[in-house]
Amino acid sequence: MELRDFAIHILSAETLEDKLFDPPFLTDENPGAPLLWKEPARPPGMGFRRHTSKEKLPAFHEHGDQDKRAICLHRFAGHELLAVEIMAYALLAFPEAPKHFRRGVAHTLREEQGHVRLYMNRMTELGLKFGDLPLYKHFWAHVPFLTSPLHYVSVMSLTFEMANLDFAPLYGRSFARNGDEASAALMQTILTDEIGHVSFGYQWLKKFKDINLSDWNVWREHVPPLLTPDRASGFVVIEEHRKKAGIPQEWIEQFKKIRK
Ligand SMILES: [Fe+2]
Ligand SMILES: [Fe+2]
Repeated sequence: MELRDFAIHILSAETLEDKLFDPPFLTDENPGAPLLWKEPARPPGMGFRRHTSKEKLPAFHEHGDQDKRAICLHRFAGHELLAVEIMAYALLAFPEAPKHFRRGVAHTLREEQGHVRLYMNRMTELGLKFGDLPLYKHFWAHVPFLTSPLHYVSVMSLTFEMANLDFAPLYGRSFARNGDEASAALMQTILTDEIGHVSFGYQWLKKFKDINLSDWNVWREHVPPLLTPDRASGFVVIEEHRKKAGIPQEWIEQFKKIRK
């Protein structure tokens, strides 16, 4: 299957099975003209809903309650599904990007599909079905800003995925503290993949940018003004995971300054 057809399949899918469709072979012979997808189709009841302050993520001190942990997993699965769709968007929007980059985006997309599956399975064990709770537009709201592959890696890999280098282990530790080893192991798997996704974004930022400009400034210039630099980290900045992703020390120091 061609990457373009794969992306269209995902963005027009009206069942979860089709959102998570995993073709045995992917080719990229005919990337076609740029196509800017407006909004993804969704399975019934899983469309974007308005976020209200009542629907807050359960606090860490509530993680002893199985239902509250399931709510967390539902929210994270929603993020993963959005990541799948935004990656499909990028495949359609940037047909002229280097083949190697496009292959990397498709590879990441498949890992995100895997993350949706992992969260779905675990929340089912905890008594919740994916789609039982409202799902939000979140990251998709920034899609109109993704006007080049450099914008894409800056927003997706180096802001949202970067923040997960802190959030995934924080939630994982909290689940473990509350005796939920299965959910903790799941967060560890997500973290390991996420380190790879951030690394992918950083490698391509370096390739796409003007060599004379600093990585940090290029990143800041390629994210929407609404996404302040603190959006690329959690409540704490976990240095070790950024190092594993190949993020240079100066960049890590900038994050630490923001969080002080
Ligand atoms: Fe993910
Ligand atoms: Fe990711």
